[in-house]
Amino acid sequence: MWPYSKVIAHRGGGTLSPENTLAAMQCGLDYGFAAVEFDVMLSKDGIPVLMHDPEFGRTIRGTGSVANSTVDELVKMDAGAWFSDQFIGEKVPTYEEVVRFCRAHGIWMNVEIKPAPGFEEETGRVVAEMTAAMFADVSVTDLSHLPLFSSFEFPALMAAKQAAPHIPRGFLIDEITPDWRAQLQALGASALHTNHRHLTPSLAKEIKDAGLGLFCYTVNTPERAAEILSWGVDAFCTDRLDLIPADF
Ligand code: G3P
Ligand code: MG
Repeated sequence: MWPYSKVIAHRGGGTLSPENTLAAMQCGLDYGFAAVEFDVMLSKDGIPVLMHDPEFGRTIRGTGSVANSTVDELVKMDAGAWFSDQFIGEKVPTYEEVVRFCRAHGIWMNVEIKPAPGFEEETGRVVAEMTAAMFADVSVTDLSHLPLFSSFEFPALMAAKQAAPHIPRGFLIDEITPDWRAQLQALGASALHTNHRHLTPSLAKEIKDAGLGLFCYTVNTPERAAEILSWGVDAFCTDRLDLIPADF
């Protein structure tokens, strides 16, 4: 049901490094994490890059958007200066670069498909096609060596399912709605990913009883992690790699 790690580094290195960069992946490694979550969005010319926000202004200085910038423009942008002077010059990485880095270091990936508004299906399809090509050497039954896609956007995951049905999917739902079973079934999803703040022990039990994986975001104290694990939650991502060890 959950053939992956229990503790996953959120956005690469959580709050200890600039999110969704290669430096963040290195940070996760340095803290002993062998599993990572990150966000993937398409550039104007349809190349997946690591990015959380569709609009600039937080991790990328200035104004503009990912969907209106080419990959050549994006990979020159500084994605580290906002975080601290130590990371000035850290660039926006492409998805392909990050997959290569993670595979080279044995890091498992939860690839969150994070489409810019209006690009849901295209993002799901392109990310899935590229992932299938990059993992063509891995057996479809070797789940712990294949990434797990997730998305809040149903159409994005549906497009991923069509393009690469053998790459597993987890549906991200902030607050679980009564139609969760039908949605997961339509997506052929193997897991439900949800905000731990809205989860209850009885909902957790229902999801586990349905034979699904159950993943929570984003758990930042050991006490809360222990509590949700006691409800049957399989795994969670964390920003606090310094407080919650990979072998928690
Ligand atoms: O995939 C779990 C979590 O990353 C979802 O929220 O906003 O941090 O991408 P967000
Ligand atoms: Mg995410």
